[in-house]
Amino acid sequence: FQPKLLAGRKVVLTAGPTFEAIDPVRGITNTSSGKMGYALAQACVRAGAEVVLVSGPTGLPAPLGADRVDVRSALQMRNAVMAALSGADVFIGVAAVADYRPLEAAEHKVKKSSAELTLTLTPNPDILAEVAARPAAPFCVGFAAESRDLDAYAEGKRRAKRLPMLVGNLVQDGLGGDDNQVILYDDAGRHPIERAPKTEVAQKIVEHLAKLLTMSGNR
Ligand code: PMT
Repeated sequence: FQPKLLAGRKVVLTAGPTFEAIDPVRGITNTSSGKMGYALAQACVRAGAEVVLVSGPTGLPAPLGADRVDVRSALQMRNAVMAALSGADVFIGVAAVADYRPLEAAEHKVKKSSAELTLTLTPNPDILAEVAARPAAPFCVGFAAESRDLDAYAEGKRRAKRLPMLVGNLVQDGLGGDDNQVILYDDAGRHPIERAPKTEVAQKIVEHLAKLLTMSGNR
């Protein structure tokens, strides 16, 4: 009998893009499909965890056995994560959260004119940084999608947010498609995982996470 890798653990994840409204019909978003986050949520369920998936807008069905909370903006995602964190052992930030949002969303549809239009953006809160900085923070796993210099940027993000583990991928590998090629970063160094369907990559990430959790004395 093999006990499940995440049995008894509660995992909170974010996935997908966020949508930052400009007016009632327009907004700023990105091309994250949610596939990587949903695959990871499913792998956590399969590993025996209680899973809360806080999801931005995607066209994907909810992972079987996970509790999905639908949100649209980064602020909504932040609030849903904070509400879900109670009792969480692990937080995984897979979402491609918009770094900025329009300072003010127009109440009515912005009308076309021949004049230039300036959109003022304000920074969104960094959800992962906020979770990781909490006094009794869960074990936090970050993601980083970069278009170049993956090692330097990914390890930089891991250290800046003091994360025990971060999953790095190149934008051209990870964004949108069914496959991904990732490198796991932790205190012991870098651990490349070969290109595979996101479902298989997710399984490998869960195995590494479970090992680090055990080593960290987190049971
Ligand atoms: O959805 P798919 O199409 O399957 O694509 C998957 C993916 C490429 C989106 C995914 O694998 C990935 O890399 N996600 C992270 C995207 C990213 O570049 O994040 P970031 O570098 O902006 O942020 C770093 C980390 O902080 C991430 O864990 C992110 O979720 C988190 N973050 C960032 C900004 C913010 N305001 N709040 C956050 O929590």
